[in-house]
Amino acid sequence: MIIKNKFADSMGAFRVTKVRNQAISEASDSPLLEDEVTLKARKLHQGSLPTTVCDVEEMCAGVKRFTFQFSFIPYFTPGQYLSLRLKIGDSIVSRPYSICSSRSLAKEQHQLQIIVKKADGGFVSSYLVDRLSIGDHVEIEYGLGEFTIDRFRDKPKILAIAGGVGITPFLSMAKSLQESNPHGIEMTILYGCQKESEIVAKKELDALNHDHVRVIYVLADEPSWTGEHGFISTEIIQKYAPKEPYSVFFCGPTAMKYFVIKELSKLKYDIRKIRMESFGGIDISKDTRYPKDLLDKYYKLTIHRGMETLTVDAFVQEPIAVALERAGIKIHTRCRGGVCGICRIKVISGNVYVPEENDGRRDADKKLGYVHCCHAYPMSDLEIKIPIE
Ligand code: FES
Repeated sequence: MIIKNKFADSMGAFRVTKVRNQAISEASDSPLLEDEVTLKARKLHQGSLPTTVCDVEEMCAGVKRFTFQFSFIPYFTPGQYLSLRLKIGDSIVSRPYSICSSRSLAKEQHQLQIIVKKADGGFVSSYLVDRLSIGDHVEIEYGLGEFTIDRFRDKPKILAIAGGVGITPFLSMAKSLQESNPHGIEMTILYGCQKESEIVAKKELDALNHDHVRVIYVLADEPSWTGEHGFISTEIIQKYAPKEPYSVFFCGPTAMKYFVIKELSKLKYDIRKIRMESFGGIDISKDTRYPKDLLDKYYKLTIHRGMETLTVDAFVQEPIAVALERAGIKIHTRCRGGVCGICRIKVISGNVYVPEENDGRRDADKKLGYVHCCHAYPMSDLEIKIPIE
């Protein structure tokens, strides 16, 4: 073996450049051919696609169901979500919503449905509930997430715990089980709400409530209710899902998630195996690990995107993704819960708070200063690098 000296080694780089330049100059200028697998993958995962709102239905106060018309079959697995992409004023935003419709609606009518509840101060949910109308055009990326029943991974009995509008993925699963259930899956849905008037899609759920699907409503604030009262506690869980092995799914508000985790832990469920989706964001003002003296402040975000540098304000109680969107800066998001990683950005300087729950970053990313900006809050002025959309 010949070991070259350092000078010869560094000259090697020039030889590579020469060889590469020659190869480039001799290359054909016709476009590269795509292989079959890439073409198929691109067909199945097409990114955001244009759709039209073809129906809007008022379900209860501040809650609407939207139906989107596609020009082809939008394949999805019940339990998955779609990501809506909208232009609201100067901001381009995207938000995830669980698909609530059945497989047959997608297959036969080429439609997907979501149910949206207007949240207090909710920038996007208010826009959708108050303004989105039949005939409007919306971009949608669909078939996202892994909140689905998998016959190889799951037990034949499913315990689904839902809170409020978190019933939507279970509505899709239950409808699809009613249409086709070759593996005999049995699903028990414990559905918690405050009042009867807040139960979303009650008639549809009642119609599904037989054979393989059981729905139990648990109301916290309805004295005249003749069914279950209170919260979805260990007693209620044990009463309707006793002992037998269940695969557990949860979808509901973040505060309810922590309550349900505590109750399931008392019953010795392995929390790591429970699939959870929550909404309503994290209220860091209530997070005891976040320094109270930083709350209610604004910091400066210096953003590098390609050759440009921009500066915007960021409120500490909002994730960096929201600060970018408010300033009209495009950032690609999907789950908005810290898990999928599509909104990954690099923090060049400054301090960021990343809640431990749902921190879906790889260890290498943590060491190298990357964060998922939908799940990262500024704790000082920041300098960040974001991808060009
Ligand atoms: S959008 Fe999925 S991690 Fe941020």
